[in-house]
Amino acid sequence: MAKKLHIKTYGCQMNVYDSERIAEVLAPLGYQLVDGQHGPVGADMVILNTCHIREKAAEKVYSELGRLRIHKDAQTAQGKRMVLAVTGCVAQAEGEEVLRRAPYVDMVFGPQTYHRLPQMVAEATRASGQVLDTDFPAESKFDALPTARTVDGASAFLSIQEGCDKFCTYCVVPYTRGAEFSRPTQDVLEEARNLVDCGALEITFLGQNVNNYHGDSGDGTEWNLARLIHAAAEIDGLERIRFTTSYPAEVDDALIAAHRDVAKLMPYLHLPVQSGSDRVLKAMNRQHGTLAYRRVVDKLRHARPDLALSSDFIVGFPGETDADFQATLDLVEEVNFIQAYSFKYSPRPGTPAALMDDQVHEAVKAERLARLQAVLNRQTLAFNTQMVGQTSAVLLDRSGKKPGQLVGRSPYMQAVVVDVAGALAERLLNTIVDVTIVSAGPNSLMGRLIGVASDAPDVKVCA
Ligand code: SAH
Ligand code: SF4
Ligand code: F3S
Repeated sequence: MAKKLHIKTYGCQMNVYDSERIAEVLAPLGYQLVDGQHGPVGADMVILNTCHIREKAAEKVYSELGRLRIHKDAQTAQGKRMVLAVTGCVAQAEGEEVLRRAPYVDMVFGPQTYHRLPQMVAEATRASGQVLDTDFPAESKFDALPTARTVDGASAFLSIQEGCDKFCTYCVVPYTRGAEFSRPTQDVLEEARNLVDCGALEITFLGQNVNNYHGDSGDGTEWNLARLIHAAAEIDGLERIRFTTSYPAEVDDALIAAHRDVAKLMPYLHLPVQSGSDRVLKAMNRQHGTLAYRRVVDKLRHARPDLALSSDFIVGFPGETDADFQATLDLVEEVNFIQAYSFKYSPRPGTPAALMDDQVHEAVKAERLARLQAVLNRQTLAFNTQMVGQTSAVLLDRSGKKPGQLVGRSPYMQAVVVDVAGALAERLLNTIVDVTIVSAGPNSLMGRLIGVASDAPDVKVCA
């Protein structure tokens, strides 16, 4: 009988990718993912894939573990075993601490060691002791992972790079994910083709600093991200290419030209600026100033006039003054982002900024965040609203909250809800359709189907 596996994923898209790969590594051992609804109830193995980026994210893990303990005890009372595991960036950053604070956890493993899960599971199920594996192995986990992919779905993530060497002074990623490493180009392209064979129409290349990708091509040369995108665009059946997250100082002319020349590359770019103050950016150890950021944006828009930008912001970085914060608001007004994530600075253990003087008061951070979000939300709504009446191609990749609806993404990553039910909905799920945008809100748009070809190809599903 199949063993039930439940994975709960926090954090960034790289964790989403890792969770899919973890499920693939465990499948030959008889573990089958159970529907998210049933969650951990009755599961043989529960894995928390965690995020350490801000204090709140990391602390969530311990409260979740407390809840899971109840399920584990219930299983034990029935004479069954539930293996409880923690992976991801909290596991990497404070694995020992996890085992100490939650002694009922069976396995803790980092984001670079999950290819060794078969051994770990054997150990954990054989003995009653705990297994800890948070090495940064010399070999790449990717070499040990199966090349075939088994995830279905029209929109897929593909990690092409791991780790980060930028050491922004607030950030834990260089410590939790290790040194930056680019996967060889042929491996990436093979995986992309496998995903397309499983039905992917859209692939998002992932890396913490993805535009610094420099993969070994096998013939003695290294390819940059632009070259990889050009090659991926040749894959038959792949309709949309995206990548995230880009580091502004590393956006080169080749990538800008790719936005002009590659039709499959979507006109949307996540380009985190973090702050509009040069003083703060310097203290953050970001390698771009505000002038350089504005220049890159101008060049990108020159190359691809409809390019939409999104960004990340941190408010209340140590030493941030009212004037610094005002500079952030000014930059936002000037650049205009269609979407953004903004956070209160959260001091992280082991990072230089946590030790800086002039930590900003919580109340000030909260007030600045609210003001920034008001401006950002206004920009999102304005962008969404001007889409009303326009035609948009939407990749329908999930059911809506209400019956009779499908939801998908526009080229600009907006969520678009379409009324479509029954057999037609089944046929249109995981396809790209043209819709007229009929209304817009801050979080989603409503679209009306324009016309659907009756000979639309069947959706591919992976074995
Ligand atoms: N590699 C990406 C970001 C990865 S983390 C980049 O360089 O842009 C995602 C976002 O979390 C960051 O862009 C930043 O805005 C936010 N973040 C990271 N560390 C943080 C901290 N200590 N406090 C608050 N926000 C943080
Ligand atoms: Fe963190 Fe900076 Fe690396 Fe992004 S570039 S992951 S913010 S250290
Ligand atoms: Fe979080 Fe790790 Fe991603 S800290 S943002 S899960 S790389």
